[in-house]
Amino acid sequence: MPIPRHGRLALLATAAAGVVVAASVAVIGTADAASTLGASAAQTGRYFGAAIAAGKLGDSTYTGILNREFNAVTPENEMKWDATEPSQGRFTYTNGDRILNQGISMGAKIRGHALLWHQQQPSWAQGLSGSALRNAAINHVTQVATHYKGKIYAWDVVNEAFADGGSGGRRDSNLQRTGNDWIEAAFRAARAADPNAKLCYNDYNTDGVNAKSTGVYNMVRDFKSRGVPIDCVGFQSHLGTSIPGDYQANLQRFADLGVEVQITELDVAQGGNQANIYAAVTRACVAVSRCGGITVWGIRDSDSWRTGENPLLFDSSGNKKAAYTSVLNALNAGGPTNPTTPVTTTPTGNPPSGACAASVSLNSWNGGFVATVRVTAGSAAVNGWTVSLALPSGSAVTSTWNATGSGSTGTISFRNVSYNGQIPAGGYTEFGFQGTGAGPGTASCTAG
Ligand code: G3I
Repeated sequence: MPIPRHGRLALLATAAAGVVVAASVAVIGTADAASTLGASAAQTGRYFGAAIAAGKLGDSTYTGILNREFNAVTPENEMKWDATEPSQGRFTYTNGDRILNQGISMGAKIRGHALLWHQQQPSWAQGLSGSALRNAAINHVTQVATHYKGKIYAWDVVNEAFADGGSGGRRDSNLQRTGNDWIEAAFRAARAADPNAKLCYNDYNTDGVNAKSTGVYNMVRDFKSRGVPIDCVGFQSHLGTSIPGDYQANLQRFADLGVEVQITELDVAQGGNQANIYAAVTRACVAVSRCGGITVWGIRDSDSWRTGENPLLFDSSGNKKAAYTSVLNALNAGGPTNPTTPVTTTPTGNPPSGACAASVSLNSWNGGFVATVRVTAGSAAVNGWTVSLALPSGSAVTSTWNATGSGSTGTISFRNVSYNGQIPAGGYTEFGFQGTGAGPGTASCTAG
């Protein structure tokens, strides 16, 4: 049982009053201090992790440090889109599974990184746009989260979707151009696929209170108010030679929205301040009860993506640096225990559902049409919907997006897909289909 920081201060104050008590404090202090990063973080219910690479697991110096020091792992590249779905619909989990199995063998938490990101997309996805890209992206989220179901502590569902600079808005990307709701669609799909993984939004340059972090803050607040499933926010914390003065306050304002906060990719440029900055980050996480843990982005300086900056806790030979000691001391100083943030799972069975309405708009030409169907919830939220419509004789559906259709001619019903079944009261979602012949006139909607 760790002694909370205020408890230690009380003991030290007592110690100042007498030599005998001071001796007993020294004993308590020694017995209480853990000697590895993971064990020390665990004393307050937190983890201390590292990003690892499958290609390095054969390096005994590397795995020696990994097994000794860390109780969480993140794949540096192995679970990204280009690695897991190199051609559309063909999934490869070989290297992702190597990271997973390494983590399992250590009894570590495994952070999944990252389901959707504008970088490291396979080239086939880079060539898609519109509903083809949206459907491919959501399918990717569903497939990968399903493959790792029950094994991932937290997923970075969406990575780096906000713009740098002062706009506080979204970054332009092919994913963003599929519609502003792509992020919430991804979170809903991830929740449906793996209800027990914590679902995180992850970004960089959001480490202090600034326009970009405030943009993310507003999105998280909106998601929480509308019931979009989000459990955590990752702060990458790729830091230079200083740390924002409001680093802890920024973590705290997100935590106050009811999400867990995590330091997800910490590294700090080597310089006079490196050890101090590492300590400040660690103290900030330990001081925020909803801060779940810290992950450093690599093990040794030679493993870092920041070549030449020596930004990690171990030197290239695997020796502990001053920054290591400062982190360990900050962890051992303790703080409020992290409560495990409950994850609200998607209700099973058939939750109550309000009424819905469907309206069709057609773009027709001689011999064909595209129908866009808007499904609108009434004064109560809708949990699942089915739209029915009749196609004129001689017409047929050739493709459908954002819904699953039954049949292609005559009377057809379209069922919601995993990410658009829940519509808030007064809200709407849209699906579409293309066909030959003439399009339908009206449509009806059944909720539930
Ligand atoms: O594996 C190939 C190798 O076969 C090839 O010979 C070599 C030649 O360039 O490339 C190797 O792949 C590289 C891969 O890292 C593995 O080393 C890629 O080119 C390189 O682009 C890739 O860089 C990764 C980077 O994300 C990509 O954007 C870094 O390792 C990884 O640390 C970095 O991680 C990101 C986080 O995911 C998100 N936040 C920022 C962070 C740092 O950029």
